[in-house]
Amino acid sequence: MGLLFLIFLATTISDGSPAKETIPGDKVLLLGPGVDRAPGLSCLSWRLAVETNNIMDWDIVPGQCGDYVGHYMMGDQYRKDSSMVTDQAILHAQSVTLGRDGKDVWVFDIDETSLSNLPYYARHGFGAEPFDSKSKKKWELEGKAPALPETLKLYEKLLSLGIRVVFLSGKSEELRNVTSSNLRLVGYHTWEKLILKGSSYSGETAVAYKSSERGKLVKSGYRIVGNIGDQWSDILGTNPGNRTFKLPDPMYYVA
Ligand SMILES: *[C@@H]1O[C@H](CO)[C@@H](O)[C@H](O)[C@H]1NC(C)=O
Ligand SMILES: *[C@@H]1O[C@H](CO)[C@@H](O)[C@H](O)[C@H]1NC(C)=O
Ligand SMILES: [Mg+2]
Repeated sequence: MGLLFLIFLATTISDGSPAKETIPGDKVLLLGPGVDRAPGLSCLSWRLAVETNNIMDWDIVPGQCGDYVGHYMMGDQYRKDSSMVTDQAILHAQSVTLGRDGKDVWVFDIDETSLSNLPYYARHGFGAEPFDSKSKKKWELEGKAPALPETLKLYEKLLSLGIRVVFLSGKSEELRNVTSSNLRLVGYHTWEKLILKGSSYSGETAVAYKSSERGKLVKSGYRIVGNIGDQWSDILGTNPGNRTFKLPDPMYYVA
């Protein structure tokens, strides 16, 4: 699985002629040149503003930037940007004084953090097509999402340091079985807790839901030494953790 993902992401991208990129086990995806050439809009500026949370509450990638985002996600830059984040997270983890009582935890988001839905989004316009909950649910139920390799490396490092892992995801509780088997399948072999969104939550924002669940952790004596996610809603709110780390995600926004 990890290898498949590497092949999938290692596809090289040229900036001149249209690129033809193969996704293992499925159809061929055609991408345009992928250069930042949308009239009146710099897709790079748009992506930077999104990553810094200066653009908020956006619901779709601007149509003229879908191709640009596709190239970013499929190419080296996404991987390098992710490495930069997780390397800093490792440095932080190595620098903290741990309680050594099993109560030091690191909170991991799941989608686009621990697991990657890129094989799905590659077939659905990299966020430039309207969200389709039906096909997304079908993909999630397959339980075939690859690991984000950089996050898996951080995960292993944290375990070796004695920090326990808590997965905290907005995925629905009804996806518990498939999510835990997917996590195990790609190398996340142990965790302290896997927190999914139960029926007691209905209309809350992700910030409220995640804050509330982190609050419960702290109340039960856990110390959140770090927190990593691809959405600002993973790392804003109360009890965010001693340090937070934001992975790139120019494909969608969760409030
Ligand atoms: C999840 O797995 C458990 C144990 O294998 C099983 O009892 C339960 O019915 C499963 N739940 C769903 C929703 O598939
Ligand atoms: C970590 O965060 C907790 C809770 O905010 C705080 O009490 C503690 O001092 C922080 N530790 C460090 C090393 O910053
Ligand atoms: Mg996520």
